[in-house]
Amino acid sequence: MKLSHQHNRAFQPNKLHPPRDFDEAVRSILTVNTHLPLIVEIGAGKGKHALQYAKNFPNNTLIAIERTSNKFQAFAKLAKQHNVPNLLPIHADAIAWIVYALAPKSVDAVYLLYPNPEPHNLNQQWLNMPFFEFLLSRLKDEGEVILATNIASYMDNAQQQAKQIWQLPSQCSQVATDSARTHFEVKYLARGEICWQLNMRKPTGYITRFDNWIYQK
Ligand SMILES: C[S@@+](CC[C@H](N)C(=O)[O-])C[C@H]1O[C@@H](n2cnc3c(N)ncnc32)[C@H](O)[C@@H]1O
Repeated sequence: MKLSHQHNRAFQPNKLHPPRDFDEAVRSILTVNTHLPLIVEIGAGKGKHALQYAKNFPNNTLIAIERTSNKFQAFAKLAKQHNVPNLLPIHADAIAWIVYALAPKSVDAVYLLYPNPEPHNLNQQWLNMPFFEFLLSRLKDEGEVILATNIASYMDNAQQQAKQIWQLPSQCSQVATDSARTHFEVKYLARGEICWQLNMRKPTGYITRFDNWIYQK
């Protein structure tokens, strides 16, 4: 089955440099824990959601990736204080890190909570990026991508892209007004803004151009 996204410009993982200071210990954790559910959070900020999630689901391994140094430092400090063994805070660009570290069909769920809105650079929204096909290749069959945003146009576009380009069944819901998963969620809800969540599912048998792609040195 050829999906419509395969007519799009393909992501080129070979062109990326490996992430700086990659911790090889992480790769061994991933190899040892293959029987446990693996969850990835992209843009984890100061780690509020990551910490809570890892505590609530001790049998899941959570890789939480944040690119910005000062946010990551706050996250790393918090993670150290709480000593949650199933949480792996990663300071990196998530794109390079995922390409380098994750095997195809290895991830159960990806969280994208309140990504940067990119109003002037729409091709940087996650569902508009060729990288999204690579991300889908790392998901297991029936795995989920969970996106939250307070920006109506971001959600409208994501819903449309999920359906028309990526052909993913999805469900949109309003985030409860007392939800407090992330710092941005707390801020937006306190201002009385509406936040939405889109749950997208990768159906069994879904094909991408990266299903056999593994990083080779
Ligand atoms: C608007 S903030 C939201 C942070 C957090 N999820 C929250 O809701 O409080 C978006 C975050 O995504 C991070 N980010 C954006 N692109 C990223 C990338 N390619 N890799 C890792 N982090 C990224 C930014 O550094 C920023 O901290």
